[in-house]
Amino acid sequence: MARVVRIEPTSPYKIEPGTLPADKAVFICQCGLSQKMPFCDGRHKIARTEEPGKLYVYDKEATRVVETRPDAGTP
Ligand code: FES
Repeated sequence: MARVVRIEPTSPYKIEPGTLPADKAVFICQCGLSQKMPFCDGRHKIARTEEPGKLYVYDKEATRVVETRPDAGTP
């Protein structure tokens, strides 16, 4: 399973020292579906049903799959 995501920013997201809680975990999005990048907003849950060997394309708001294709990158 993999997905195509739309990423529009062209510069890094700056996190100033001391702006994150020192005593609390912070989760960074790895699925690419968060609407609060770079932080996880829980949207990864929609990807739980993705099947191996398929490439998923989500709508702009990452709320639903609009297309699936065979994943050519799958070994
Ligand atoms: S890992 Fe991407 S929204 Fe949680």
